[in-house]
Amino acid sequence: MTRPVFTVLNGPNLNLLGTREPQLYGAAGLTEAQDRCEQVAGELGVGIEFFQSNHEGSLIDEIQQRPKSPGLIVNAGALTHTSVGIRDALAATGVPFVEVHVSNVFAREEFRHHSYLSDLASGVIVGCGIQGYELALRRLVALAAD
Ligand code: DQA
Repeated sequence: MTRPVFTVLNGPNLNLLGTREPQLYGAAGLTEAQDRCEQVAGELGVGIEFFQSNHEGSLIDEIQQRPKSPGLIVNAGALTHTSVGIRDALAATGVPFVEVHVSNVFAREEFRHHSYLSDLASGVIVGCGIQGYELALRRLVALAAD
């Protein structure tokens, strides 16, 4: 049996994690988040791949290319609060996903309190720093095993 491969999708400005507003997002970069997810994926016997783009259309393309994915971990960054297109792509594939935000969006500006994705998500993890990615992976693996 081939091992399931989960995908982490990161939107705009998340390539700047580690240097970007560290008081909000912490000191760890996206590479560290990826390393930690790879470690957890190894522990759980699954595969993991990471993708980051600053472009809405590229994220939509990635979602459309994974209709059979066992699960996606989605941090759409600012597009969370604006993108009907990303919402529609996630709805169209019907793939289970967990929405992640490194910062606690509910402790920030009001425009960050609304997400176009949350009501479609299997779960939402906010404010846990980059640990949110590995928590989301553990959750998706558990759901896939149900
Ligand atoms: C974010 C929160 C968003 O509001 C923001 O635009 C981001 C990052 C987070 O991970 O905390 O770019 O998704």
